[in-house]
Amino acid sequence: MLILNKTAGVFFKPSKRKIYEYLRSFNFHPGKVFLHKLVLGIETSCDDTAAAVVDETGNVWGEAIHSQTEVHLKTGGIIPPVAQQLHRENIQRIVQEALSVSKISPSELSAIATTIKPGLALSLGVGLSFSLQLVDQLKKPFIPIHHMEAHALTIRLTNKVEFPFLVLLISGGHCLLALVRGVSDFLLLGKSLDIAPGDMLDKVARRLSLIKHPECSTMSGGKAIEHLAKQGNKLHFDFKPPMQRAKNCDFSFSGLQHVVDKTITQKEKEEGIEKGQLLSSAADIAAAVQHTTACHIAKRTHRAILFCKQRNFLSESNAVLVVSGGVASNLYIRKALEIVTNATQCTLLCPPPRLCTDNGVMIAWNGIERLRAGLGILYDTEGIRYEPKCPLGVDISKEVGEAAIKVPPLKMKI
Ligand code: KG4
Ligand code: ZN
Repeated sequence: MLILNKTAGVFFKPSKRKIYEYLRSFNFHPGKVFLHKLVLGIETSCDDTAAAVVDETGNVWGEAIHSQTEVHLKTGGIIPPVAQQLHRENIQRIVQEALSVSKISPSELSAIATTIKPGLALSLGVGLSFSLQLVDQLKKPFIPIHHMEAHALTIRLTNKVEFPFLVLLISGGHCLLALVRGVSDFLLLGKSLDIAPGDMLDKVARRLSLIKHPECSTMSGGKAIEHLAKQGNKLHFDFKPPMQRAKNCDFSFSGLQHVVDKTITQKEKEEGIEKGQLLSSAADIAAAVQHTTACHIAKRTHRAILFCKQRNFLSESNAVLVVSGGVASNLYIRKALEIVTNATQCTLLCPPPRLCTDNGVMIAWNGIERLRAGLGILYDTEGIRYEPKCPLGVDISKEVGEAAIKVPPLKMKI
């Protein structure tokens, strides 16, 4: 359909959303035949209250987010009751904002999708009870969402990616490698045995008191480490990558965190400063931690690619690795992964940074994916509960370890 652009005096091909808005400006209501499926997504699993309206073609009609990062930075970590209170204070406003930016009436929604697992119990509870009230009021179907499934599928909103593909999810709460065979069909290849990389970077940043650094005071721990690392020399400290002997795709970050902690204590002694003051070697430590983290993540991912290739799990002509989650916005780690994908003839894809961290768009999009596949759409929400702990897919990490694939060394020249 072509519409005359009066100001420019030329014909242009508008997006479907523009056509819809144009028709609406004449009070023309096209109704369900014309309108694409629209899903409202609501996310409150951790420390972001987020909502978005997304259509079937991946158009984002409206989105809103309230981040609690600043509050949690001040308290030195997420305190669940504080997160719960902030979700309660903001959820109504954020959902309202996403709906009003999208200029649709709630009655036009096809469904409401909300994260119900995994995450902080108190945070998940706020999103779920708000959504259930809305579902009841609007008489809409409800689509419960797995937070990690949503992270994994986000790439299909921004890029044309077919199943199967390999996904690496690295954030503050999660760390896993999985083969995505369908909307809700995952094979778990490996996961962190202790903490997630974002959690480790947050702890190191806190131990280095980066909140006191003028350039980093408002950044998340991981972002502060990336920023400071650019000014440091990674060779000044030698932190060994964890689990070098374990030939599986699992991860570990708490050992590295303790080693870094001890090094910081040692440096404080050498520099004659108190805990809580900024170290002159903070940038070098940041650079070395980031490098070791990148090498560890790259090695496990390399093994996962080789395992999938050995089992013919990925397309031979177009094997794709998707990287998402808050830590995926780290460009140094992305470069390390690029070295791996270049060496294994894979395509590396990452959603844009704003879709890598928690957001409402990914939840709404997961709702669209499930709606299209006819999976997990509830017309009766009786008995629905949130689940703080919930693995993703079928765990085959033992089988991956038994394959004991040796990974050829790669030069990590980043
Ligand atoms: O996905 P996300 O928003 O929340 C969940 O944990 O689910 O990820 C937040 C995490 C935090 O630990 C934060 O420090 C980390 O992602 N992060 C980064 C960067 N930006 C955020 N880590 C490394 N480099 C970054 N640029
Ligand atoms: Zn997340």
